[in-house]
Amino acid sequence: TSPMTVRSLAEAMGRPARDLITIMFKHGEMVTINDALDDEMALEIAMELGVDLTIEPEEDFEDAITEILERSDADFGIDLVARPPIVTVLGHVDHGKTTLVDRIRSSNVVDGEAGGITQHIAAYQVGHNGQKVTFVDTPGHAAFGEMRARGANVTDMVVLVVAADDGVMPQTVECISHAKAAGVPIVVAMNKCDLPDINEQRILTELSQHGILPSEWGGDVEVVRVSALQGTGIDDLLETLLLTAELQEFRTVDSIPADGVCLEGFMDEGRGPLAWALVRRGTLRIGDNICCGTSFGRVRAMYDDAGREIQEAGPSTPVKIAGLDQVPSAGSRFLVMDDIEQAREVAELREARGRSAVLAQRGGPVSLEDFFKH
Ligand code: GTP
Ligand code: MG
Repeated sequence: TSPMTVRSLAEAMGRPARDLITIMFKHGEMVTINDALDDEMALEIAMELGVDLTIEPEEDFEDAITEILERSDADFGIDLVARPPIVTVLGHVDHGKTTLVDRIRSSNVVDGEAGGITQHIAAYQVGHNGQKVTFVDTPGHAAFGEMRARGANVTDMVVLVVAADDGVMPQTVECISHAKAAGVPIVVAMNKCDLPDINEQRILTELSQHGILPSEWGGDVEVVRVSALQGTGIDDLLETLLLTAELQEFRTVDSIPADGVCLEGFMDEGRGPLAWALVRRGTLRIGDNICCGTSFGRVRAMYDDAGREIQEAGPSTPVKIAGLDQVPSAGSRFLVMDDIEQAREVAELREARGRSAVLAQRGGPVSLEDFFKH
């Protein structure tokens, strides 16, 4: 589709082009009839002329991107490879999620020195008996639900942490419904089993009352007793997760341009905008041109979950990406594009659309009317 010009907008609104040019002149824009207009300007003009105007989003490239993202792995016609399962840890406040993930990490990272660095880490990978598991540490079930709503769900399995001294609590119930809505297997980590006077049967009963039927009661959910604090049951939990993963056979393609999800974005003083991302499929490499939500850039450097520089990142790998022009928002999907101009164009169009959506929401004489049909 061709871009909107002063002429095409004037025709669409049924107003003389010079009225539009006058308004733009007042806004400090010197234009002629053939000049292009952005959506924001068009809406501003419509508002001042008292014309109802809706700008139909130009869906072309978004459709193309969606088509790529939704293409099934089999459609690529290349061999599928096994990939590590991606596990999200959910549970009620203070039930021990952070302690559990720290424990899993510190006792399983190959390089022992990496243990303490957990402040900004949204995802990390651990090895167990030669197999890898990727853990996603979302800030909570709300973030998990939000990611899912944005089509950015990357979770294969959920570890539901339930403190044995507290039982199933309101947020536990919410986590259960999120996991069920996502349709992913759940493994329960019954935590704080080191405490005296806990009633395991009570926990199992509460779980069953909320649709989680423990396997020891003939159901399909494994309940693993752990103490994140003392480190007991951790191997058991990892083995259960790997067994569950084995049954699911998580596979994907790795020799295509990567796509994935930004779990968290932040500004690093030295390195500029950084994206903590998870590669969904394909392989991300230094020098790749990516767009990620409304940001774009050439991948300048990549770091693994321990902060070490890496050259490439395959499926299910958590990676910190440097080289984007701005901090991407959590939940944006990223995709490798053919060239940097294409990536820029996608990001800028998204940004412009975001602005005009905000402008349109501000009200005024702009309301919904079908003017632009491409
Ligand atoms: P939020 O992030 O606030 O939702 O909490 P959380 O689920 O991450 O819990 P966190 O790991 O911060 O643990 C909460 C408290 O429970 C801390 O004081 C931990 O030391 C304690 N705790 C965690 N795991 C265990 C455990 O296995 N046994 C005992 N006794 N205490 C534990
Ligand atoms: Mg925590």
